[in-house]
Amino acid sequence: MNSATADPGFEIVARQDFSDVTFLLEIRHPLLAKAARPGQFVIVMAHEHGERIPLTIADFDRDRGTITLVIQAVGKTTREMQRDCRAGTRLHGLVGPMGIPSQIGKARKVLCVGGGLGVAPVYPQARAFKQSGAYVIGVLGFRTRELIFWEDKFRACCDELIVCTDDGSAGIKGLVTEGIRQAIERHPDIEECIAIGPPVMMKGCAEATRPHKIRTIVSLNPVMVDGTGMCGGCRVKIGERVKFACVDGPDFDGHLVDFDDLMFRLQRYKATERDANERFNEHCRMMNRAPTVS
Ligand SMILES: Cc1cc2nc3c(=O)[nH]c(=O)nc-3n(C[C@H](O)[C@H](O)[C@H](O)COP(=O)(O)OP(=O)(O)OC[C@H]3O[C@@H](n4cnc5c(N)ncnc54)[C@H](O)[C@@H]3O)c2cc1C
Ligand code: FES
Repeated sequence: MNSATADPGFEIVARQDFSDVTFLLEIRHPLLAKAARPGQFVIVMAHEHGERIPLTIADFDRDRGTITLVIQAVGKTTREMQRDCRAGTRLHGLVGPMGIPSQIGKARKVLCVGGGLGVAPVYPQARAFKQSGAYVIGVLGFRTRELIFWEDKFRACCDELIVCTDDGSAGIKGLVTEGIRQAIERHPDIEECIAIGPPVMMKGCAEATRPHKIRTIVSLNPVMVDGTGMCGGCRVKIGERVKFACVDGPDFDGHLVDFDDLMFRLQRYKATERDANERFNEHCRMMNRAPTVS
């Protein structure tokens, strides 16, 4: 973590906006870039009084000494970051890499599935599988053509790529589960599936692979507070056992995850999150109204 006086923070070297809610930040942190492995995440504090939020390391470049985060502005903190984080500004705190790295095992044919924002975190895994010599089939799902990002990066590391859109404006029309169905039909010898996206999507992916007995790994996103296994905020039910996603995950066997419990727990803070969002809207309105003083 940054100590406020000695360390001026972590420089944002680039920003790219994919849509009006999704944006990318590339941050200079050579040590973190060196240590990062696919599947890991960081905890970020955008400013001194900001909330600590977990974000997946969507890419790392050891030569440039940078890590990349792809963020969806969904509430107070992520919207604040969307407003304030520009190339040349700094993040106050950045801790990581956290979580157990994904196992890039011996599978010879893998399916890497990303839905919406989940496309970003599945990328380092697709690249690592390709580097391990596996045949990689990517399945990317977006609501519509305008939201597509990183198709070029996936084409570079996938042997086959299936793009799905809900409205059929690009690729095949349908959800990622349709892409999975088509991939399995063409390749009954797929050994492993990695699926990252909203819980309901990961649940659908796990159900799509279950009858084929394809090992399926999902990356869970419960609310995290300390990120060290101490607070219990991120507990998830995996089969008969309770695990903490921050230290035991975030990757788990999708066929054992209790997704209904995860989705129920994610709803618990909705009222507080809505209040914080409304206060942020009000603050923005007041700032826009305030007269400029020179
Ligand atoms: C391991 C992990 C990796 C993640 N990676 C990414 C990523 O790469 N990009 C990205 O945009 N988002 C990611 N998230 C989710 C991100 O942390 C939340 O979107 C963010 O905390 C929302 O904060 P907010 O104040 O903007 O919105 P809020 O209004 O506070 O919350 C909106 C929603 O975000 C989730 N959330 C809120 N607080 C937390 C928290 N402390 N921990 C986890 N989830 C929370 C809840 O589902 C909530 O309903 C990840 C979450 C986890 C657990
Ligand atoms: S975030 Fe506190 S135990 Fe995982």
